[in-house]
Amino acid sequence: MEALKDRFGRTHNYLRISVTDRCNLRCVYCMPEEGVAFTEASHLLTYDQIAEVVEAGASLGITKLRITGGEPLVRPDLPKLIARLSAIPGIEDIALTTNGVFLAKQAQALKEAGLTRVNISLDTLDPGRFAFIARRGELRRVLEGIEAAAEAGFHPIKLNCVLLKNVNEDEIAEFLRMAYEKPLHVRFIEYMPIGHADDNWRNHYLPLSRVLDIAGERYTIARREGVIGNGPSEDWEIEGGAGSFGLIHPISDHFCKSCNRLRLTADGNLKPCLYWMDELNVKGALGNHAAMQEMFAKAMDIKPENHEMAAKLADTALSHVPTERRMSQIGG
Ligand code: GTP
Ligand code: 5AD
Ligand code: SF4
Repeated sequence: MEALKDRFGRTHNYLRISVTDRCNLRCVYCMPEEGVAFTEASHLLTYDQIAEVVEAGASLGITKLRITGGEPLVRPDLPKLIARLSAIPGIEDIALTTNGVFLAKQAQALKEAGLTRVNISLDTLDPGRFAFIARRGELRRVLEGIEAAAEAGFHPIKLNCVLLKNVNEDEIAEFLRMAYEKPLHVRFIEYMPIGHADDNWRNHYLPLSRVLDIAGERYTIARREGVIGNGPSEDWEIEGGAGSFGLIHPISDHFCKSCNRLRLTADGNLKPCLYWMDELNVKGALGNHAAMQEMFAKAMDIKPENHEMAAKLADTALSHVPTERRMSQIGG
C-alpha cells in the first residue's frame, strides 16, 4: 500500500493518540466545569489495541506519535504503552502533551520507556489566575513537572500557552522573559472554537500579532528556519536568550496546507481533521492488519482541505458539519 497521501497531496507521518478523554483539570476553553460524559473504561482502546493501530500506521509511513488526552497521565501505566510503541519498527519519535500536574512523579519512568519529547500546557504564571483558568489543580505542581522533565533529560521542553483576550494577555511579556532566561520553548496559541455549541470563549480569541509586537519591543528576534518537532508552530529565536518562542495561529494564518497529521481518539476513531465531524471507527478492523491499513487509506480519502474556525468565530456559514467533540475528547 502507498504512503499516506491525501487528495491534496499532503503526506501524513504523524499520529496523535488520545489515551483518555478524562482530565484532572477543567480549563475554561476546553471542558465545562461539570466535565462531559466520559468514555467508560471498557470502551477505551486497550494499549494492545492502540499498538495494533500504530503498527498499521507505521507500515504506511507514520513515524511520529504524540500521546494526548484529556490528560494522558491520568491513564494508568502510561510508560508501558510508551515502551510498547517505541518497539514498533518505523516509529522514531514519541512525544507527550500534558498539563504537567502529574509529570514530576512520572517524568523519569516515561523517559526510560522511550518517550522522546514533552509539551506542557501553561497558560499563566500566577497561582490565582491558574485557579480561574484551570479550575482545579495547582500551578506549583506544573512548575515542578517542568523541572522534573528537564532533570529527566527532555529537551526541548515546549510550553503551550493559550492566549485569551482580557484573561492572560497581560502575561505575554512575562512568558517571553521566561523564554529568554530559561532553556524552554514557549508557544503562544490562538484560542480555537472546537465543539462548543454555545461557546462564550470566542470573545476571548486573540490574534497572535500582539506577541510579535511585544517581543520586538524588548528583544532582537529572528524567525527560525525549519521546525523543532513536527507541528504547526512558527518558531522565533531571541538573540542572547536561553530559550525561544513560537506562535500557533490556526485562525489568523492557518497551516492546513502543510498538515501531516491524523488523530486517534480514546474511543477508537481515526479523525482526519480535528475540526470536522468525520471519523472512522477502527474497532471493526482490530485483529486484521490489512483492514486496519485500509482504515488509514480511507482517512486519507475523506480528509478535508482545511478547517473553518475563522468562519465559526465570525458566525458565518460552514461548508459542512463541525465536530461535536470537545477539545478534551480529541487531544488538541
Ligand atoms: P510538536 O510535535 O511538538 O510540534 O507538537 P504540536 O505543537 O503539534 O502539539 P501540541 O499537542 O503541543 O499542540 C499545540 C497546539 O497546537 C494545541 O493547541 C493543539 O490543539 C494545536 N494543534 C496541534 N495540531 C493541530 C492541527 O492539526 N490543527 C490545528 N488547528 N491545531 C493543532
Ligand atoms: N484552543 C487552543 N488550544 C487548546 N488546547 C485545548 N483547548 C484549546 C482550544 N480551545 C490546548 C491545550 C493543550 C493542547 C493539547 O491543546 O492547552 O496545550
Ligand atoms: Fe485538561 Fe488539557 Fe483540557 Fe486543560 S486543556 S482541561 S489540561 S485536557
